[in-house]
Amino acid sequence: MTGVTSRALSPNLGAEVLGVDLEAGVDDAAFRAIRDAFLRHQVLLFDADGLTPARQVAFARRFGEVQVHVMNQYHADGFPELYRLTNLDADGNPNGKHPDRGTMAWHTDGSWQRVTGQATILYAEVASAEGGETHFCDMYGAYERLSPAWKARLASLRAVHNLDFSRSRRHAEDPLTDEQRRARPPVDHPVVRTHAETGRQCVFLGDHAESIVGMPYAEGRALIEELNATIVHDDLTYRHRWSPGQLIVWDNRCVLHRATAYDPARERRVIRRCTVLGEVPR
Ligand SMILES: [Fe+2]
Repeated sequence: MTGVTSRALSPNLGAEVLGVDLEAGVDDAAFRAIRDAFLRHQVLLFDADGLTPARQVAFARRFGEVQVHVMNQYHADGFPELYRLTNLDADGNPNGKHPDRGTMAWHTDGSWQRVTGQATILYAEVASAEGGETHFCDMYGAYERLSPAWKARLASLRAVHNLDFSRSRRHAEDPLTDEQRRARPPVDHPVVRTHAETGRQCVFLGDHAESIVGMPYAEGRALIEELNATIVHDDLTYRHRWSPGQLIVWDNRCVLHRATAYDPARERRVIRRCTVLGEVPR
């Protein structure tokens, strides 16, 4: 008996995990229970108030190799694995600038890499009173709802994912430096992937997907836009409103996520994030 239990957060995906003290550390039996829940529920919520950066990274390492993000201006606390999204200035006051507007489009973390993101682990240091939610949508369910004709059409398609595209061209964010761009050339992945651990099929697209291999650019763009709108279903979505001290881990292989807007001139929001690498999608 590990004492680890979980409680569903929505009818379709997401569960709150109880009986775990992440600051104290997680033994092998407890981690097995967490891992099982992760594969079953796709999104897990923990009460982790006061979690230190070191413990967050240690927890992430239980899942696999932790990514050092190419956007090195966000590195936090001397841990290159951690990436802090904050709208606070040096005095702790709102600075009026959203730290990463690209997160407001549905996406999956690290899909612009050959080895894509497995788990992302967010910890809320400071939560906004209004807005700044994180939404998660189940991509197993999205696949199951496609018509047989769509499933057949998508079966052999590959999409090109490109961080430079999603960041610079769509959201007018600070562009990548030449060095960052060279380090992260576009990559292509199947539009329908088979989850390496559950063996289930799911749609793998989102906002980093730019074009379709072998299809004229405009036609590929139109198809991706149509699919990205089609695969997000309200009743397959869990919407999380953050409280400070909460930690969420989700499975990027089978979940799309987005943040909702908040007023960066009035609200305070500080999120500490790390991403665990997965595998090359198949
Ligand atoms: Fe993200």
